[in-house]
Amino acid sequence: MKLHIAVLPGDGIGPEVIAQAVKVLKAIAMEFGHIFTFEYGLIGGVAISKTGVALPNETINLCKNADTVLFGAIGEHKYNFDPTAKVRPEQGLLNLRKELDLFANIRPVVAYEDLLEKSSLKKKFIKDADIVIYRELTSGIYFGEKTLSDDGNTASDICRYTRFEIERISHLAFKAARSRKRKITLVDKANVLESSRLWRKVILELAPQYPDVTLDFLYIDNAAKQLVVNPRQFDVILTENMFGDILSEEASVIVGSIGLLASASLGQKYSMFEPIHGAYSKATDKGIANPIASILSAAMLLEHFGLLEEAALVRRAIDKSLNLHITTPDLNTKYDNISTSKVGDFIEDFINNPEETNLNFTNIHLGQSTII
Ligand code: IPM
Ligand code: MN
Repeated sequence: MKLHIAVLPGDGIGPEVIAQAVKVLKAIAMEFGHIFTFEYGLIGGVAISKTGVALPNETINLCKNADTVLFGAIGEHKYNFDPTAKVRPEQGLLNLRKELDLFANIRPVVAYEDLLEKSSLKKKFIKDADIVIYRELTSGIYFGEKTLSDDGNTASDICRYTRFEIERISHLAFKAARSRKRKITLVDKANVLESSRLWRKVILELAPQYPDVTLDFLYIDNAAKQLVVNPRQFDVILTENMFGDILSEEASVIVGSIGLLASASLGQKYSMFEPIHGAYSKATDKGIANPIASILSAAMLLEHFGLLEEAALVRRAIDKSLNLHITTPDLNTKYDNISTSKVGDFIEDFINNPEETNLNFTNIHLGQSTII
C-alpha cells in the first residue's frame, strides 16, 4: 500500500516521540513491502515562533493533501503564565481538528498484564480493564462562543451541541460496542446541563437501532469516581468534548502512564493519529519521554487503513518491550538507561526480526548491541 503521511511533531517532546513512530512505520513498510512517504509540517508553539500563527495554511494544505496525519504534542511552558496571549499553541491543534472535521476521538484504555504493578490503583481492580472512550472532538465548550468583557472581568464559554453532532459520533460508538462487549455508557451532566439532556434524548432515540447494545448513563462526577473504583464495568464510554478530555487523562492511571495512551481522530474524510499526552516541556530533549503512545498511535493508523497484520506486529513489539522492561523511566524501575530512542530502536528491531530480538536482549540492555 502507498500512504502519504503528514507528520506534525509539534512542541516539547513531540519531535522525539514522533521520530520513534516514524521509525516504526518505516520498519513496517520495509518488512511488508509498502511505500510510506512522510512530509513534515509546523504546528503549535514552534509554528508561532517561525510564522506567527499556530496553524499555518501550508500545514492545513499538507494535511488535506496527505492520506492521513500523524501528530505529536502541543503546548509551551511560557504560555501557561501568560493567560492574555492572543496566539496560543493549542489553537493549532484545535483549529486543525475543526478544519479536518475530526469529530470522533477514539481513546482505547487497556490494562497491560505486565504493567499492573505500575498503576497507583490496586491490581485486582484494574486487571483486565478494557475500555474505549469515544470523545466528541469538534464541538461543545471547546468550540462554543467565547466572550471577554471590555473591562476584562467577565468571561464565558458556551457549551453548544446539535443533534447532528451527537448522532454522528453516537453511531460510531454503537458500532464499536457491537464488536466489543456490547455496552455503552453515556457520560454527561444531564441533571444540570441542557446540552447533556439533548445528548440523552438523541441517544435514547438511536438506541432501538442497536437492540443488541446495552445503554447505560452516568453523570460525569460519578463516572470520574467509577473509573478508578471499578474500571472493569466499562466497555465503550461515549461523551462530549471536555468530559472526554478529563476522563481519558484520568483513565491513564489504570494503564500506569499517560505515555501509553494513543488515539485516533476521525472524520468523514480525514484522519489523524495522536498520543493523548501533552508536550511535557520539562522533559524536552532529555530522552526520557515515553514514545509508546506515539507508536501505538501509528498502530491505530495502520489498523485504520486495514493493515491489521502490520499493526499486530507493532503491538507485539510493544508488548515485548514492556515485558522485558525496555521502557522509559516513567515505567522502569529495573533499568535506568533506557531512552526514548532506545525504546524505538528495540521496537524497530523486533519488527525487522521478531524471532531474534529476545535472544539479543542481554546485549541490548548492556548497550553492546549494534542496534543501539
Ligand atoms: C488532548 C489535549 C488537548 C485537548 C489540548 C492540548 C488542546 O489535552 O488531546 O487531550 O484538550 O483536546
Ligand atoms: Mn487532554
